[in-house]
Amino acid sequence: MAPFKTSFTILAAFFSLTFLTTIKSETLFARELSAPDQFGLKTEKMTHLRFYLHDIVTAQHPTAVPVAQAATTNTSSTSFGLVLVIDDPLTVGPDLNSTLVGRAQGMFVMSSQSEVSLTMMMNLVFTEGAYKGSTLSVLAQNLVLKNPRELAIVGGTGVFRFARGYIQLRTHTINMTTLNAIVKYDAYALHY
Ligand SMILES: *[C@@H]1O[C@H](CO)[C@@H](O)[C@H](O)[C@H]1NC(C)=O
Ligand SMILES: *[C@@H]1O[C@H](CO)[C@@H](O)[C@H](O)[C@H]1NC(C)=O
Ligand SMILES: *[C@@H]1O[C@H](CO)[C@@H](O)[C@H](O)[C@H]1NC(C)=O
Repeated sequence: MAPFKTSFTILAAFFSLTFLTTIKSETLFARELSAPDQFGLKTEKMTHLRFYLHDIVTAQHPTAVPVAQAATTNTSSTSFGLVLVIDDPLTVGPDLNSTLVGRAQGMFVMSSQSEVSLTMMMNLVFTEGAYKGSTLSVLAQNLVLKNPRELAIVGGTGVFRFARGYIQLRTHTINMTTLNAIVKYDAYALHY
């Protein structure tokens, strides 16, 4: 019985030592902050942004370019499997020549076999006024033919640190030949 007890004690000591070491090494890179106030996290604000996104597929200088597709994409009524990389201008009005406020950069993936639907992974990168250099991150389903439709804001940087919210989209114009589209964005973001 005695040898068993001894080895059990050694084993227990070994495990508690391992456990302690684990806890200790975590404190090497992470610590809980007692005063989030020092980050200015006092009152949450809601900002409404309105702008127009120009998705230019067919032009001399397109802003949305297909980069990949499946062998079956061409025969799919919903273009299932098509991937586009975008760098779409965002302007204050529906006219492309109106003031540029930022760009939408990321990827659109045609990801439904039954309806025209995109999965959007993009950052809205603002370049104007107090929002210059700040971003809103969007990860969302976009039911292209639905008006209005809704996207989720999942985060942000700069002015929009800790952001969350949603964006209502309405198609302003779409040319079914060129697939160039102008979409009205009404974003509602909670941030500090
Ligand atoms: C699909 O159609 C496009 C445009 O018509 C063509 O360039 C491409 O090669 C086709 N892809 C496949 C996999 O058939
Ligand atoms: C924007 O401005 C350019 C050059 O001034 C002009 O050629 C073009 O037609 C304008 N586009 C629109 C949509 O007004
Ligand atoms: C769509 O674009 C094509 C090519 O630029 C143009 O000829 C046509 O008039 C446009 N259609 C509409 C409804 O604007």
